[in-house]
Amino acid sequence: MRIKKIQNILKKKNKKPIVCLTAYSKNIAEILDNYCDIILVGDSLGSVLYGMHSTKNVSLDMMINHSISVKKGVKKSLLVVDMPFGTYKNKKIALNNARKILNKTKCDAVKLEGGKSIINIVKYLISNNISVMGHIGLLPQSHKGKFKFKGKAKKEKIKILEDAILLDKVGVFSIVIECIESNLAEEITKKVSVPTIGIGASKFCDGQILVTDDMLGLSQFSPRFVKKYLNLRKLIQKSIINFKYDVVQRKFPTKKYIY
Ligand code: KIV
Repeated sequence: MRIKKIQNILKKKNKKPIVCLTAYSKNIAEILDNYCDIILVGDSLGSVLYGMHSTKNVSLDMMINHSISVKKGVKKSLLVVDMPFGTYKNKKIALNNARKILNKTKCDAVKLEGGKSIINIVKYLISNNISVMGHIGLLPQSHKGKFKFKGKAKKEKIKILEDAILLDKVGVFSIVIECIESNLAEEITKKVSVPTIGIGASKFCDGQILVTDDMLGLSQFSPRFVKKYLNLRKLIQKSIINFKYDVVQRKFPTKKYIY
């Protein structure tokens, strides 16, 4: 099943755009599953759900618990789980933790941030039958300060391109490229054999991902690359105001809602 799903993702390269979104729990995952090729349990949950300042404090248990919930809502999409910061320090630790994630959650694959610096770890996981998604460009687990796009300076551009080529070579099934300059995203997409999934990385990628809470307007994070498809905060607020009115005016519960 996992291999079949991955083959379907690979087949889409240069043919059909790949649709990806994040989910942290069952109800949202259930909705996404009808429309997404890939659902990512992103460690962005650290900031989005837990109000952390960075993803560095996200634990393995947090990722596992949310992934178990997401898995309950998913029937067909490929399910990828972020390996949190500190859980892939070396080959052995990485394999141990990747197996723990996949065995406990029954998800399909893991995502690791980095290129050359972690290439032997990625290679080792793949050689042990773990499906890996790469993540290059802006790396939230090691990034300090404001979100700033990458790949304008020549040295940085060469490094990101090198990272992509190395990840492709060792056998990742796709690569997330975050917040990089458009021409570089296009070049990477042309040079690698696997699909690139962009976030703030132009329309030239093979697919796109956004954090669902951001695109629904539930979170208040709004960098340039996030298109808000809905103002969910406002819709929720309206419902809460209506509920409050009903309670205060003793209009709820009416007969219809009591036993
Ligand atoms: O953690 C996350 O949600 C991610 C996506 C933004 C790609 O890594």
